[in-house]
Amino acid sequence: MADVQKALEYVRANRERFVAEMKEFLAIPSISTLDENKADVQRAAEWVAAQLRSLGMNQVQIMPTGGHPVVYGEWLGAGKSSPTIMIYGHYDVQPVDPLELWTSDPFKAVERDDYLYARGSSDMKGQVVASLKAVEAIVRTTGLTVNIKWLIEGEEEIGSEHLGEFIKNHTDLLACDFCLNPDAGMISPDKPTITTGLRGLMYAELRVFGPEKDLHSGLFGGTIHNPAQALIELVAGMHDKNGRITLPGFYDKVRKLSKKERQDFKRLPVSNKDLIAMTGVPALWGEPQFIPAERVGARPTLEINGLLSGFTGQGSKTVLPAWAMAKISCRLVPDQTPEATMKQMKAYLKKNAPKTIRWELKNLHNAGAALTERDNAGVQALSKALESVWGKPPYFKREGGSIGAVILLKKYVGAESLLTGFGLPDDNVHSPNEKLHLPTWAKGIEAFTRFFYNFN
Ligand code: BES
Ligand code: MN
Repeated sequence: MADVQKALEYVRANRERFVAEMKEFLAIPSISTLDENKADVQRAAEWVAAQLRSLGMNQVQIMPTGGHPVVYGEWLGAGKSSPTIMIYGHYDVQPVDPLELWTSDPFKAVERDDYLYARGSSDMKGQVVASLKAVEAIVRTTGLTVNIKWLIEGEEEIGSEHLGEFIKNHTDLLACDFCLNPDAGMISPDKPTITTGLRGLMYAELRVFGPEKDLHSGLFGGTIHNPAQALIELVAGMHDKNGRITLPGFYDKVRKLSKKERQDFKRLPVSNKDLIAMTGVPALWGEPQFIPAERVGARPTLEINGLLSGFTGQGSKTVLPAWAMAKISCRLVPDQTPEATMKQMKAYLKKNAPKTIRWELKNLHNAGAALTERDNAGVQALSKALESVWGKPPYFKREGGSIGAVILLKKYVGAESLLTGFGLPDDNVHSPNEKLHLPTWAKGIEAFTRFFYNFN
């Protein structure tokens, strides 16, 4: 039997155990943005490290950063003539609120139909487990013929804040030919996908302050600019009536799409109808001169992620709030940068904020936009692996999400990322009832297993 077949048989024979282990991992509430979950984040790192040790990886370490740690491990036994492939992942997850909308406990993974429901199942503990199990199948059967290095971080969902510093300080340790990154998902269960671009992000918190404390709205309303009103006036003014962002200079660096790029976008099997069905909105919104796939993949946006002010409890309270807050983020495209965007937002506020209030803008986190190469040995090996499993070549697509590591690995170790994954657009990532489509995930393990044999 061919080597790859031995490993694939191992994958098929052990699928149930793989799911059981994934459930253990999913039971750890490693929410990186919440202080109260700090110990859980650490526990998730330990879970990953234990897996790497059991696979016989060397140098397995939980390495501290200024924030949550990085888990590292390597196996370099294939020698210098074989490629060194980094496998990237993140073991942190997003918060689970609103909890009441979950059908089952977000940290007690349950199978319903073909899906496994839990926070992090799709984004991306399930993808990390898929990589671990592909490598397990190989090391337990024929052995690896490529060198691998694992970089599994705990701050992806908060902008990989300390990862740049970490990579910069460990360029020798992290040197590799390219990086397999399964955090980018696929178009649909029958459409294997390689992602060729990601948007960047600038995330900020805007606070508007009015009176020293909440006031009676009857006694003071009409004489004091309500901070909630001032905040929404400012935030609403960040788009014009055509949906164009008004921050000064915002579009200056946005790279124009070539004819060829626009043709590629047009060919993608993504329909307006699917988007409406997936989200439940009455109609789509956005820049009319671009199709939805372009708006998500290649156009920048500004989103309100949350608003907070005044009285929001049961019943009514006639109050004029002392302050108001908005979480605002911009998705960025080449060649915009988070730093410039932060300056533009500040300039907008300086120009437009009224004298009646005081404001503060804080940058919470950032990620750079990235485009990846389509022609290298890694892309070829991955395409071939996806094609063997799905019976058709992968689609190449630019995605709207962000992964801080991609640009950092390129910048500090010169490594291109191979962006793929087995999460689906309707997996409810960052939402209630996050789920993982197990049949697609199982195919994903087979694809990764094949991938590592495609370098011989
Ligand atoms: N897996 C996503 C990124 C992603 C989403 C890639 C969709 C391709 C398609 C990742 O875990 C994520 O959610 N990243 C954050 C990063 C941010 C906090 C800097 C994001 O995009 O919001
Ligand atoms: Mn995510």
